[in-house]
Amino acid sequence: MKNAFDCYQVNKNEQSEITADVESISHDDLPPGAITIRVVYSSINYKDALAATGQPGVVRNFPHVPGIDAAGIVVASDSDQFKVGQSVVVTSYELGVERWGAWSEFIRVQPEWIVPLPEELTLKESMILGTAGLTAAICVSSLLHHGINVNAGEILVTGASGGVGSFALSLLNQLGYSVTAVSSKIALQERLIELGAKQIIHPNEVNTGSKKPLLKAQWAGAIDTVGGSLLSHLIRSIQPEGCVAACGNAGGTELDLTVFPFILRGVTLSGIDSAWYPIEKRTALWQKLATDWKLPDLDSRARVITLDQVSKTVDSILNGSHQERTIIQIGEE
Ligand SMILES: NC(=O)c1ccc[n+]([C@@H]2O[C@H](COP(=O)([O-])OP(=O)(O)OC[C@H]3O[C@@H](n4cnc5c(N)ncnc54)[C@H](OP(=O)(O)O)[C@@H]3O)[C@@H](O)[C@H]2O)c1
Repeated sequence: MKNAFDCYQVNKNEQSEITADVESISHDDLPPGAITIRVVYSSINYKDALAATGQPGVVRNFPHVPGIDAAGIVVASDSDQFKVGQSVVVTSYELGVERWGAWSEFIRVQPEWIVPLPEELTLKESMILGTAGLTAAICVSSLLHHGINVNAGEILVTGASGGVGSFALSLLNQLGYSVTAVSSKIALQERLIELGAKQIIHPNEVNTGSKKPLLKAQWAGAIDTVGGSLLSHLIRSIQPEGCVAACGNAGGTELDLTVFPFILRGVTLSGIDSAWYPIEKRTALWQKLATDWKLPDLDSRARVITLDQVSKTVDSILNGSHQERTIIQIGEE
């Protein structure tokens, strides 16, 4: 195992300016943990873009290494659970937030966070999915759990051109749901239809600015990756007994609502947290994503970049112009 290796490090200087670049570190710099993994691929999620720009809500200590997603090979193990040479996936928990993350040739973590790579997935495919794919799968599971089946009616997916949104579209479509995509990128109409949307509407068609406590009940369910005003309008537009799986805050964190959608229409607001999603349920969902729910075009659904190219993608995620998925190849397969 080589001692000096590269990572993408975020620093704060004495003037409180954030800088970020590829730096060389050593194994002694890594945090403690029973398992060391050589990272082959990582990915770029919305949370990574926040970490890469030193957002105080995400990064508490500097220097910091972003990267909430890792797929790689175990190179050192003090645990019976994982063997050297085994292919594994780690997403979230504290990775890339409280703990140095996967934009690095090596990470060190505890075994409780690790999922063995399902046989039916490649390391690359697992990172094309990454936290985005897992979160979309948790959202779909939640709709199913709340009784929103394929015959329930039209399902809305917001932020449809993004990582979570694009996988939510495709998974729902593959399962037989009729899905409407909400996207600000109307120019991507054709691609959104290819991904599984029956129709595309602009966020302003949902987020009308109406203050009415209840709006026309149009949607059987929804997966929301945007939050804020769009989500509050959406909840007011859900049919009786419908459900919204809410995972995002790219468009805001406040909800302007009354209790009426809940007490007069029986609407469920299902909060989704992939970061601390329990390991047993997480392992089962990864297996589903690798088999019954596997998307046929998975391998072609991401752009592949290297560590020294992440800054541009970070900017595009933060200004809302990024599409679907970008993964980072960090090591050889
Ligand atoms: N709760 C969880 O466990 C969990 C897990 C993963 C992600 N998330 C959250 O889910 C959201 C999506 O994550 P992602 O990684 O899929 O991000 P992403 O790829 O950047 O997608 C975000 C999409 O949201 C839409 N959007 C609307 N308003 C926006 C704004 N003001 N700035 C940026 N985008 C805006 C855009 O889609 P259109 O242009 O198509 O409208 C954009 O493509 C984020 O809020 C993220 O924090 C939560």
